[in-house]
Amino acid sequence: AVEERVARLLAVMTLEEKIGQLCQVAPGGETLADDLADDIRHGRVGSVFYTGHAEQTREAQRVATQESRLGLWLLTPRDVIHGFRTVFPIPLGQAASWNPELVRRAARIAAEEARVEGVNWTFAPMLDISRDARWGRIAESLGEDPQLASTLGAAMVVGFQGDNPARPVLAACAKHFVAYGLTEGGRDYNRSMVSINELHNTFLPPFRAALDAGCLTLMTGFSSVNGVPPTGSRELVGDLLKRRWGFDGLVVSDWGSVVEMIEHGYAADSRDAAQKAIAAGVDMEMASETYRENLLELVEAGETPLAEIDEAVRRVLRLKLRVGPPRESTAALNEPAEESLAAARELATQSVVLLKNRPPKQRAPQRGQAILPLDPAALRRVAVVGPLANAARDQLGCWMLDGKPEEAITPLEALRNALPEAEVTHAPALDSSTDTSEERFEQTLGVVSRADVAIAFVGEDWWLSGEARSRADLNLPGAQPALVRALAQTDTPLVLVVLAGRPLTIGHEATLADAVLYAWHPGTMGGPAIADLLLGAASPSGKLPLSFPKHVGQSPLYYNHPRTGRPAQAEVRALIGSDRSDFPEEMKYRSHYLDVDPFPLYPFGYGLSYTTFGYSELAITTAELRAGQTLTARCRLTNTGDHAGAEIVQLYTRDVAASLVRPVRELQAFRRVTLAAGESTELEFELPAERLAFFDNRGESRLEPGEFRLWIGGDSAATLGGAFELVDGPATP
Ligand code: IFM
Repeated sequence: AVEERVARLLAVMTLEEKIGQLCQVAPGGETLADDLADDIRHGRVGSVFYTGHAEQTREAQRVATQESRLGLWLLTPRDVIHGFRTVFPIPLGQAASWNPELVRRAARIAAEEARVEGVNWTFAPMLDISRDARWGRIAESLGEDPQLASTLGAAMVVGFQGDNPARPVLAACAKHFVAYGLTEGGRDYNRSMVSINELHNTFLPPFRAALDAGCLTLMTGFSSVNGVPPTGSRELVGDLLKRRWGFDGLVVSDWGSVVEMIEHGYAADSRDAAQKAIAAGVDMEMASETYRENLLELVEAGETPLAEIDEAVRRVLRLKLRVGPPRESTAALNEPAEESLAAARELATQSVVLLKNRPPKQRAPQRGQAILPLDPAALRRVAVVGPLANAARDQLGCWMLDGKPEEAITPLEALRNALPEAEVTHAPALDSSTDTSEERFEQTLGVVSRADVAIAFVGEDWWLSGEARSRADLNLPGAQPALVRALAQTDTPLVLVVLAGRPLTIGHEATLADAVLYAWHPGTMGGPAIADLLLGAASPSGKLPLSFPKHVGQSPLYYNHPRTGRPAQAEVRALIGSDRSDFPEEMKYRSHYLDVDPFPLYPFGYGLSYTTFGYSELAITTAELRAGQTLTARCRLTNTGDHAGAEIVQLYTRDVAASLVRPVRELQAFRRVTLAAGESTELEFELPAERLAFFDNRGESRLEPGEFRLWIGGDSAATLGGAFELVDGPATP
């Protein structure tokens, strides 16, 4: 029925009306300006950004549906990235939960809140595999691994769009197609260079997974990829995405990425840019106006076939019919619902990663051997320090447009609420994460020295990550390293809570502290979630969705890198920093640096809990696997500690020898398992042979026989492993 209606509409549209449907504008002001109303009325606009003013959007829709010739409603997009009014952790934090169900639920809540305000399209999820912590948009990503990003990205798509494909809550948008996260030097908008096999093996799979989950739209990225801006790439958009993958949804450019092809030196002028983008298969132009200025003339001159315009319009109309007319909002969005806040608290709790937890230098009010969890009943004086303890806007993170800082509960407030009997003293020491003044250190140290424990909230202000927020230095900014050093010199046990939009090189600070919680930018309910973890109402269960470097010079650093002929062995570590002549010959010519070892500070998948987990009894039931068959791997997981806790069990494989150099390890599957203290369970993973296939440098999939290794464990350095053989020939019954 949708296709019939699309055909009927197309048949009655003028060329001007068709081109109008391909134009997206972002209005200024709070009300609908007369000239924009006029453009909508005359069918010169297909999509108008929601800019935070529901009344403006409502009026735009009224004009479109009641005053335009065709009565077609508008697409009204918004960057609903990690929440709308209820703000969830930044996507990188959500990825640390490794919990697709919770991630789906968060997206659904965001979608419902946004739809009430008149939004019908979100520019999320961002699916750029990100391996360079210098890149500010790493905060918006789902980390460095294609399998994790594919699973969570697909969950977000289903969350945003809802369970009824015929009536999505919002249309989701997989972005930024493709390899934007590979931007050279971690500098935003820079070029990306990628081999064909890595493009297909690493960067495309999350997009494929999103489309398989029903994602209705896709956005082309800013960076050129192998010399061609994706917005002008017929190969990537027209051939691969639309023809080979059969995507029938809408492709939108990024903001100005059509006109920017001129600055790239890929288009001569606005006319050339429009012609290249529409020919590539970019259906809608965001923000710039090359379509509006040139398409009519290009068609009339016979330089752009009408069929290209019709195909783009067909996709816009299809999307409009799918999202449906503007919904009369029955409820005004006054404040986040209780259930939404509970979900935000749960996701924030599961996104926090415990990086370190040791017994303090002197007994503190803790419950067990290690400093965390603290014992609320025994806490009398708590020093809450650091610039991010009470920084509501910062805890909401980057790309956050509609949340309200005044609705966020900060860690300071949450700790005060949770510890009514204790004296909780706030001594921030610094005004912001970039503050360089040490003037208030002495006063802060005075407070700390009288406390049972110091909890320091350090990291990055919200504006230090996100679009155009690349950093060349990954250390804690400002005077924060000096603050941590000073705090560690007191006799008071020290807990660090890091709020940041990227992995920071906190190796030195982690050595000084008794415990480190990495909380990303945790959203509206970040404070209560952190307090729950500090005080033992919840046990940490987050795991790192990317490798943490020791030094910025290691970037890009990722666990699943292709193997090398001269890998560094762990023994190299002991020799780093020594005189080069001290390197034994067999170590010297290995892949490493002279001044920092090549290994991560914390590996991908890493994260501690208040309990401990033991892995044993690995059994691979299928020693020989054939195409079409599924391997079963089992192992026993035991909670060996004295707390209940959740573990994220991870399964990795390595292709031992192939026709292409393959990654050292690849995540294949994962599962969140909750066990009571002392409890043990047998886990079973199924691995279809086809998951072992890879793409070659022609972009063709290959399933090659040979030996594979397999590991199951709690991070990417898991040691419990086995082997199996993928053998040639069809499966026998
Ligand atoms: O969705 C974003 C994109 O990620 C970056 N440029 C602007 C778009 C719309 O706001």
